[in-house]
Amino acid sequence: AHVNEEACIGCDLCEYVCPYGAVELVRKPDDKWVSKINEIMCKGCGSCAVICPKMAIEMYHYNREQILAQIRASFLIPAEGEFEPKILVFTCNWCSYAGADLAGVSRIQYPPNVRLIRLMCSGRVDPLFIFEALRSGADGILITGCDPGECHYVSGNLWAEARFDVLNSWIKDIGIEPERLRLSWISASEGVKFAKEITDMVADMKKLGPSPLTRSIAVKEV
Ligand code: FES
Repeated sequence: AHVNEEACIGCDLCEYVCPYGAVELVRKPDDKWVSKINEIMCKGCGSCAVICPKMAIEMYHYNREQILAQIRASFLIPAEGEFEPKILVFTCNWCSYAGADLAGVSRIQYPPNVRLIRLMCSGRVDPLFIFEALRSGADGILITGCDPGECHYVSGNLWAEARFDVLNSWIKDIGIEPERLRLSWISASEGVKFAKEITDMVADMKKLGPSPLTRSIAVKEV
């Protein structure tokens, strides 16, 4: 991670969430306090980038714009014919992505309605990504990661879980059914569980119908 010192307000939230003690506040010659990241100690989980209220922290890889571009590109091709839910899945590099991979190499069948985005950790899932996915046409979003206690960045999945609870109430407040946003812990050996989560989610989204946001976009287009 690295800090844009112009944007940093020295709130120190990044130091609070960093599981490696890689962030510290430093005083600049003009007396401004800013965060400084020790790039040797940083492991690149992205928790600091998500919690920063000024978006002053960015990752060298998997940066915000790259991920947003993937989200926007996920559902560019308009669906034709009968309604098929569009599901976006965030996977963490170490567990759930490997679980998805295992489902693939084991030839376990699941519906082709999903687009996968790989992040280093579930703690990297920024609320911004969720709203961008809904805006871009996702009917359902599944956040996945390592089991509690197994996160490769110590506490990333616990932050993801805490954010998930808040996000669920936010999307409900704006009129989107909370069932459209799910969280599931899937280990690298759980290809079967990955396939089942997708299958269940697609079936549930079919019952719910298109996301209210997609419906309103369609009405505008008409
Ligand atoms: Fe898998 Fe953090 S690395 S959830």
